[in-house]
Amino acid sequence: MTNPSLRQPALGLVHRFAPATVADARPLLLLHGTGGDENDLLPLGRTLAPGAALLSPRGAVLENGMPRFFRRLAEGVFDEADLRHRAADLAAFIAAARAAYGLAAPVAVGFSNGANIAAALLLLHPDVLAGAVLLRPMVPLTRTDPVDLAGKPVLLLSGAADPIVPAANAGALAARLRAGRAAVTHEILPSGHGLTQADVERAGAWIAGLGA
Ligand code: MLT
Repeated sequence: MTNPSLRQPALGLVHRFAPATVADARPLLLLHGTGGDENDLLPLGRTLAPGAALLSPRGAVLENGMPRFFRRLAEGVFDEADLRHRAADLAAFIAAARAAYGLAAPVAVGFSNGANIAAALLLLHPDVLAGAVLLRPMVPLTRTDPVDLAGKPVLLLSGAADPIVPAANAGALAARLRAGRAAVTHEILPSGHGLTQADVERAGAWIAGLGA
């Protein structure tokens, strides 16, 4: 007899998919923060890119019952072997979802833990994403091989008073992405770790500026 809790979710990760209602709109890959799920960022995605296809997976790791995209050993201290493994799984999910739903390469919109796995995808699997909006990200991996991100657009939005991500850490991530020749915009907003209206406005304008 099949144990339902052991069943593999469709395409490898539990997710929501909202098809595009506007032709040629770039699909968004929505990656939630710790304790979020596949429903959390759908309203944000609709606001940032009206009419775009939205692909929103749930992180497969549980920390005290809270979904995440990879394990951590402590706040801001990551299990890097697990992160590499989960980033490969997410890359495979994106490829499967693109084939199943007929999607172009997505632009990731990740918040906090979701921003950190999006940054890991850029550094480890640079062809998977068309670009990324990283909301309150930090350096996900201490060491990665040189990567070619030539011209890939990446927006980092950090909080000047973020108690989780030190400013120098976000700056180091921006520098690492620039070293791969990504087209990085890094803005530091007058906020903490939580998202604000300024994030929504900046990210929406940046996505609109990418064009179709
Ligand atoms: C992480 O674990 O990815 C970061 O510390 C952000 C968080 O999820 O709190």
